[in-house]
Amino acid sequence: MSPLKTLRTKPLSPRFGVEVLDIDLATVDLLDVFPAIRACFEHQSALLFRNQKLPAQTHMRLAEMFGPLEDRKADEKLPSDPFEISQLSNVTANGGVTGAMELHTLSLKSNQLWHTDSTFLPIPALVNILTAKIVTETGGETEIASTRLAWHDMPESLKRRIRGRGIHHRFSHSRAKIDAELARQHAIIKWPDTHWNSIWRNPVTGEDALYIASHAFRIDGMDEAASEVLLTELTEFCTQPEYVYSHKWTVGDVLIWDERATIHRGQPWDYSKPRALASICSSVTEADGLSSMRMV
Ligand SMILES: [Fe+2]
Repeated sequence: MSPLKTLRTKPLSPRFGVEVLDIDLATVDLLDVFPAIRACFEHQSALLFRNQKLPAQTHMRLAEMFGPLEDRKADEKLPSDPFEISQLSNVTANGGVTGAMELHTLSLKSNQLWHTDSTFLPIPALVNILTAKIVTETGGETEIASTRLAWHDMPESLKRRIRGRGIHHRFSHSRAKIDAELARQHAIIKWPDTHWNSIWRNPVTGEDALYIASHAFRIDGMDEAASEVLLTELTEFCTQPEYVYSHKWTVGDVLIWDERATIHRGQPWDYSKPRALASICSSVTEADGLSSMRMV
């Protein structure tokens, strides 16, 4: 029996993504339900689970089933220090909210550029597992665009301009689009540039997807200005409404997406209102196609 048939699902959008029903993520076992979830992830690129309780330990346990936990602060900590879940939150320790122009809020705003997580890391992300803790009534949606379907549909004349070329990524490139001071922060500039293939072939399904991000700043064989023009054109193609699923958050939602086959962005909300999502990315491994992405 196909693993997909063991999960009850309903579509999130006409061509990609499903809501998975009747699953309590706290009870998922690596050898039992997880293989069906993973198979669904490979084919659908985005999975939604509603009404979940996802405390830190459950969140981490689920992420570890996909791959090694991504820890961008590992170089600043002792190996014995606990893993910290990334909080996409404007809530402060005293219960207030950060100001709209504070660096922390600007950092949240930079998530509103279409991007893939962690393309600027030496080992990029396979998956983001994002869950809502505090939501606002309006705004703050997460939008996911399928670069797999977009690549499938893309005219050959456009494909030809990027196929076979590597793309260079730099974290500060995306942050500089939001704020110059943000782009100078140590946490932003500490990563050396990366260089990835522009197409990620899923080793399980054999399907290709365009691998781009707001962090991409130069395409092989082009100067930065020409690269920006083409990257914008490619992003605009991939984010046409037919390739986009927009998720309006409810507390307890868990949204999981394949970083190899999608780009995403957050939508703004009223920054005077508290809002908190918790995120863990898991890193890719060789089994996810990493070596084929490295440009020599
Ligand atoms: Fe992101």
